[in-house]
Amino acid sequence: MSYPLKIVNVVGARPNLPKISPLIREMRRHPEIEPLLVHTGQHYDDALSGIFFRQMGIPAPNVNLEVGSGSHVAQTAEVLKRIEPILVKSKPDIVLVVGDVNSTVAVSLAAAQLGIRVAHVEAGLRSFDRSMPEEINRVMTDALAEYLFVTEGDAVENLLREGRPPSSIHFVGNVMIDSLRYFLPDAQKSQIGYDLGLMVGESWRRFGVLTLHRPSNVDSIDKLAELLAVVGAVAAEVPIIFPVHPRTQERLAQAGIPHRPQLIFISPLGYLDFLCLLSNATLVLTDSGGIQEETTALGLPCLTLRENTERPVTISEGTNILVGTDPDKIMAAAQEILAGRNKVGRIPRLWDGKAAERIVKVLLASVPCREKKIFAT
Ligand code: UD1
Repeated sequence: MSYPLKIVNVVGARPNLPKISPLIREMRRHPEIEPLLVHTGQHYDDALSGIFFRQMGIPAPNVNLEVGSGSHVAQTAEVLKRIEPILVKSKPDIVLVVGDVNSTVAVSLAAAQLGIRVAHVEAGLRSFDRSMPEEINRVMTDALAEYLFVTEGDAVENLLREGRPPSSIHFVGNVMIDSLRYFLPDAQKSQIGYDLGLMVGESWRRFGVLTLHRPSNVDSIDKLAELLAVVGAVAAEVPIIFPVHPRTQERLAQAGIPHRPQLIFISPLGYLDFLCLLSNATLVLTDSGGIQEETTALGLPCLTLRENTERPVTISEGTNILVGTDPDKIMAAAQEILAGRNKVGRIPRLWDGKAAERIVKVLLASVPCREKKIFAT
């Protein structure tokens, strides 16, 4: 008799959800795996969490740690403290974490301290900018994880440079692109284009999408005002839809930034509405990591309003341009795109919708776990 491989999967914040969805779906196809799901509660609003569970068919979490918001240190510490009894009780063979949020590093540290193997999906990405909380989370998580699942070639190089053993590194593709491919047909049925007045009959008007939530762009009101002024100027040419993240909303409420009618502020969108908008946009401006990848997968022009990216393949192969935050450069790059001079890209290697399948195959073949199980019987 053999026991199933018990895997505790972890989510905390919105970008974790499209990454975990294909993994749980794939694990559930294998009776030899017992997948559990823990939500740390880092994100708790329905618009940032619940709607993604419903739309992507993610099962309700077995446990919600309900850590809520706080400083990076407080949030990380709270997850670390609250996850311990869950891991001690459930005794998983593997803890699987995704991405680079505070929940990712906190659960990885707890698991490693308890002697549980950690699998990190989206390992090896580096912006080389330690002022980003996510960069610290990535470096720490990769130092702790025994299974490092990577999305692009540079990530392999980064991990090797940091001394991670080659046998722990698995180039498997991109689970977020698994979700994009899987849900794109459903997303096209969204009515968001009609709701926002972006349709003329059955056809889409030209429009742009803006997302901004990096602390470096939104925590300073002056910086945020400067960015919104230049995007407002771009919006004089095509309407730009701006789903506003709660962090950004807090700053806007304090700032009294002048309103530009063509820059349309809306509440955060669910996965399907957002994917529908993204896939039909003429131009995307963002400081998100995931959106750089989604636009590359969709072949859409993306201007990244940051000075660095941890996802260089979206630039070397994809349609992403790292434009920075200088207003003149943003304006010039946007005008190029609106004039139809788009960067042509190609789909990066293994971004084919099968990353979750490859990851689960590696986990199932994880020999030490199987051996441990044989001893346990
Ligand atoms: C977090 C992640 C970031 C990710 C982003 C996606 C870290 C360090 N940052 O940043 O990598 O790109 O999520 O959204 O983990 N809030 C709500 N409702 C919620 C959650 C938060 O209103 O459900 C508000 C709170 O006021 C909170 C603020 O948003 O203080 C920021 O939330 P937090 O999770 O701390 O960081 P994000 O900026 O969302």
